[in-house]
Amino acid sequence: MNTSSASAKAPFLWGVSTSSYQIEGAAHEDGRGLSIWDTYSRIPGKIKNNDTGDVACDHYHRYREDVALMQEFGVQAYRFSVAWPRIMPEGRGAINKAGLAFYDRLIDAILAAGIEPWLCLYHWDLPQALQDNGGWTNRDCAQWFADYTDVVAQHYGDRVKRFATVNEPSVFTLFGFALGGQAPGIVDRGMLLRAIHHVNLGHGTAIDRLRARVNNASLGAVYNCQPCRPATDTPENRVAAETLDAYWNLAFPDPQLRGVYPPPIADLMTPYLKSDDLKQINRPADWFGLNHYSPNYVVASDKTPLGLWFGDAPANVPRSTMGWPVEPAAFREILTRMHKRYGLPIYVTENGTAYADKPTPDGKVHDEPRISYLKAYTAAMYEAMAAGVDVRGYFVWALLDNFEWSSGYSERFGLIYVDYPTQRRLPKDSFHWFADQITASRASSVPTV
Ligand code: FCB
Repeated sequence: MNTSSASAKAPFLWGVSTSSYQIEGAAHEDGRGLSIWDTYSRIPGKIKNNDTGDVACDHYHRYREDVALMQEFGVQAYRFSVAWPRIMPEGRGAINKAGLAFYDRLIDAILAAGIEPWLCLYHWDLPQALQDNGGWTNRDCAQWFADYTDVVAQHYGDRVKRFATVNEPSVFTLFGFALGGQAPGIVDRGMLLRAIHHVNLGHGTAIDRLRARVNNASLGAVYNCQPCRPATDTPENRVAAETLDAYWNLAFPDPQLRGVYPPPIADLMTPYLKSDDLKQINRPADWFGLNHYSPNYVVASDKTPLGLWFGDAPANVPRSTMGWPVEPAAFREILTRMHKRYGLPIYVTENGTAYADKPTPDGKVHDEPRISYLKAYTAAMYEAMAAGVDVRGYFVWALLDNFEWSSGYSERFGLIYVDYPTQRRLPKDSFHWFADQITASRASSVPTV
């Protein structure tokens, strides 16, 4: 395992995050195959305003401008994802040279700007051709993912050292296979369990491929971690909150980092488990990628196959336009829990918030609520660090406004405002705040770890 790139004295790393389907656009260009999100976003009524990622932020053509803005604002690391169907339009077999060439140009531009590339292999855009063969519910998908990983590792491993296997596996499996609202739009507990297990197998196998192919690789996965609380304190809601906690917070890091499925999932998983599976899933990682936005409030409900649904936060808790409760103390709580449970260095790979940003006549975007959110959440992170939690870096979601899944373009998470009709980029006040934060952190060497 490589520890030199995240040694005990490494300076704290400040970055920004995005993902392929949410920003790239160019959905039908240069040989890209279809992904499950191309399909899903075309089902009427699934996405707000029936938006799609066809054009998104047109980052495929404007990546130079986006990288230049990161450089101008002093960003140290950029976490992006590679679109599997751009590299392998059918998900396996033929490799699309034009797709590989795009990420060559992007990675070279990132490096030339003095920024560290963090490459995520899977941020939800599964090739549709694989979905047509069962996608993650098919055990072979673990192998397809590992083979795709091999291509990416072989091609970019000379320049990229930080790889994440999957982004938020709990979110894309729960909403894609049990709770509704995300591609591929299946609602079935058995399918959910299969998908969870095959994503875990894919992760472990991909880690082995990355280790074999990339010198000095620094590897992890990106988990979405949120305290799950009963919305009101009844025995039924407590059970629902514990159930969601197992699926949401533990179903991936427990087998990947401890070699076990947590109760109550462990028993349910038996039919899908072959004898060496847990060994294959439990491969050494170098860091724990932690995404966090808010806590979950949970109620018992028979409207989903898991017997639970989302309830309301207490009335006095402020919310973002997504309706997500703003509670920085929950961030400190989950950082502490994941540090104690897994003992790996943590990188906060996503944190941020959506607000109804609008440019004002002075040509600026004064997004005070986002600045307050980021201040409160970074303060909570510093508190956790002061109490001994090993946090090595923090990435804001997102570099720029983008396609927010089922909310389409109606939610704006960016440090940069995107005027979609013209594709003009306008750095928000929060990006200036973030740049000052980076400068201060570098100058004072606080926080360092
Ligand atoms: C996370 C996703 C990311 C983005 C943010 C707001 O769950 O990883 O793609 O949508 O939420």
